[in-house]
Amino acid sequence: MSPAPVLTHRMRHDKSILALVISAEYIFAGTQGGEILVYCLETYERINVICAHRGSVLGVCLSKDQKLLFSSAGDRIVNVWDTHTFLQVYSIYSTYDVGDVFCVSHASSLQTVYLGAQNTSIQWYDLKEKDTRPEPKPASHPLFREDRFFDSPGPGGVRTPRPQSAEERPRHARGGQILEIDKQHIRQFAHYGYVYCMLVARGLLPDPDEEILISGGGDGTIKLWTLDRQAGGAINELYTLFDGRDEGESVLTIALDGTFLYSGRIDGEINVWDLETKQLVRSLRTRTGDVLTVAVGGDLLFGAGVSGVVEKFNRQYERIGRFTAHTGRILASGFTRYRGQPLLITGGNDNTLAVYDVRDCISTPSGSKVSSDEILVQYLKQFVSFRTVSSDLRYKADCRRGASWLRQIFKKFGAATEMIATENGYNPIIFAKFRGNPTISKVRKKILFYGHYDVIPAENEQGKWIADPFSLQGIDGYLYGRGTSDNKGPIMAAILAVADLAAEQALDSDIIFLIEGEEECGSRGFARAIEENKKLVGDVDWILLANSYWLDDHVPCLTYGLRGVIHATVSVESSHPDLHSGVDGSTLLDESLKDLIAVLAMLTGTHGSVQIPGFTDPILPLTEAEKKLYEDITLTLTRYNPSLGDAETLAQSLMRRWREASLTIHRIQTSGPENSTIIPRLARAALSIRLVPKQEASVVAQALISFLEDHFAKLESQNRLTVSIDHQAEPWLGDYNNEIFKTLEQAIVEVWGPLKSRRRSSLSISKHPTQPSNGYSSSKPSPTTSSTLANSSVTPPNEDEIYTPVENTSSFRKPLYIREGGSIPAIRFLEKVFGAPAAQLPCGQASDSAHLDNERLRLLNLKKSKEIFKKVFRDLPKK
Ligand code: BES
Ligand code: MN
Repeated sequence: MSPAPVLTHRMRHDKSILALVISAEYIFAGTQGGEILVYCLETYERINVICAHRGSVLGVCLSKDQKLLFSSAGDRIVNVWDTHTFLQVYSIYSTYDVGDVFCVSHASSLQTVYLGAQNTSIQWYDLKEKDTRPEPKPASHPLFREDRFFDSPGPGGVRTPRPQSAEERPRHARGGQILEIDKQHIRQFAHYGYVYCMLVARGLLPDPDEEILISGGGDGTIKLWTLDRQAGGAINELYTLFDGRDEGESVLTIALDGTFLYSGRIDGEINVWDLETKQLVRSLRTRTGDVLTVAVGGDLLFGAGVSGVVEKFNRQYERIGRFTAHTGRILASGFTRYRGQPLLITGGNDNTLAVYDVRDCISTPSGSKVSSDEILVQYLKQFVSFRTVSSDLRYKADCRRGASWLRQIFKKFGAATEMIATENGYNPIIFAKFRGNPTISKVRKKILFYGHYDVIPAENEQGKWIADPFSLQGIDGYLYGRGTSDNKGPIMAAILAVADLAAEQALDSDIIFLIEGEEECGSRGFARAIEENKKLVGDVDWILLANSYWLDDHVPCLTYGLRGVIHATVSVESSHPDLHSGVDGSTLLDESLKDLIAVLAMLTGTHGSVQIPGFTDPILPLTEAEKKLYEDITLTLTRYNPSLGDAETLAQSLMRRWREASLTIHRIQTSGPENSTIIPRLARAALSIRLVPKQEASVVAQALISFLEDHFAKLESQNRLTVSIDHQAEPWLGDYNNEIFKTLEQAIVEVWGPLKSRRRSSLSISKHPTQPSNGYSSSKPSPTTSSTLANSSVTPPNEDEIYTPVENTSSFRKPLYIREGGSIPAIRFLEKVFGAPAAQLPCGQASDSAHLDNERLRLLNLKKSKEIFKKVFRDLPKK
């Protein structure tokens, strides 16, 4: 048995997936709600929801050239869609009461559509004749008429209500030409049972281009039909395949592989037919329950059904594996190769689509080279699986293991590497150097990429994560896992960018990586270790980081500023032990917690403004050029999200976070048991101050200590105050006019291309799967925060949204130049030590949830970031 294949991605919906078909670019999935979902194979993002039918979509297929998509449904209609615009082209119906239309096929050479129905008929429409046939009379259309049989009242006289008017047509099932099937173009009793499945095949007749139709039915037979070009595509029975058994279990699904036909039956059997000899070659017993879908590809046969299990068979029809793909029935499946990656895609009544990479079980690896994008995701999955939590000593070994794994990856791609130890046994720094091979005309440049492999703790005891935080999961176009965005994903993208360039013999520059393991703890030990290893690192022209986020979820950004930070612990300790407030409480006793609160209270005034003397003095005034940047930002953001309110308020809120300082008291802890009579001996507060350019961390730290000590002295307390600075980071302000920012900007424009326009109805409500709105309603405006920006801009395409491919290239996405309120201790330090300017490429979106539950990175952002790094590593000039 081969191991279970890798679940590459899962896409969630709110209704069963009943049918699917895969084109070169998209997965089209028909649902129980009458929708056709369109997913992009490149990003696994749902780019459209076509409201296609009033009733379950039971069958979908594509024309040979993939320009047309056909859908059949429980509403007795076959719709034809343009696969580029997603608009309806034709709507085909029969004047007969056909019941559910289970399946649809298209014969390209005849341009004829075939449908298989519940009333046992096969019917067809020759699309070449569409303009010469008489206009259909609306009264005979299934949306308006009553079906004598299928709409007859059941026992008790109850029946499904019918729509009253054409307005009840599904939203997108409009605009196409309405076509009525000619009474001549019907083959009644094509099977003595429902016509469940159909396909059009080529290469089975003496003329290799001649197409035939194959149908499977509720009568347990499979029929092959020739198509009569002269008679409007009429079908003529060629022969019937019958397994010779009397019970005649329904044939629910068929698939063709060369001259072998596979059919899935209601009793869990898959039959293998040789169409050249018309013989039943094998009968495969599966444990999938009723076989509802079969798929072939990569020399493998996949059968799936009621139990949610997929079974894999090889060329010799040996069962080589089975795995559970859905928690429910598997109703549809398909095989494709996307950029060489063999994929099995399944849909089920657990309302999901699953995408499996089935490379592991494919015998002939010829031509299936693993693409760099695939390696990127695979390696990121492994990287995320190491619990490299720096703030918890329990994960010390995991940090080491993660670090040495990463070093191996660098080595594998050809870098010279070192593990740089840090003081106090803190996590080591990985140094890796890729040596460029400059062509004669080019000079060697030296680019330093800084990142961190440590992550913030994550646990899923309360089940708040949608997946295990340390096992990367692809869901709805996003990769979920701790560190995907902060900072493992961007690091992997940068490494693969270098690997790609090296493979293309286009690596001119030296790319040096410094990946540390203590960033989330204030980069403990980093500065000293780097100063001691300055020679090893060598000269540096440019410094690049990728550890920040876009301002919303749409517009690419470049980060040119970060705030600094001081983390401090303030403790007040008494000489007495923990006491009882009734027994001992008196004005003679100085209580530690009261003292602590008294001094902390002096730190801030109205709205939290910092009261330390001289604190704001060094802060630079706003320049005209800066003002212009804020205007660009607010204009772009409010155009996308009018709900963000007025531009001025938004600009104010950004400036407060980016170019003004702030102070936060994180928590207060006390000694003694937690009951309401304790006078704690010790009270301790954790606070931090975010700093902006020109405020120096060490100066502010000293001012903070003096300020607290002065105010404590005024209390004349017998207790003892201690203030310790846990770690500090200088603020950083880059020069966004320099070459590295210009090169990054150019790369972003090229890689992200023009803005995609999205047409949305005014009624649409923006939904977000993991971050529900907080539900507060208040008349007082609350400040714009990162989460308002993320939520207001996250607009997964919903029923109200139509994706319009953009042809005009006028509105290229220029990145927004932004700053951040957060801090990275290393950035300013590296600039000073190596005398080189730094820039920061944010890879993630505002809704990435770094440090929170359900941290994620959009797959598209990961791939695009790699492309941007490639261009930047290639195109950066020498300083
Ligand atoms: N990636 C963040 C820095 C960051 C935060 C950038 C917010 C953009 C927006 C980094 O990993 C981080 O968490 N930094 C800490 C630094 C601290 C521990 C010294 C921070 O900002 O609190
Ligand atoms: Mn972080």
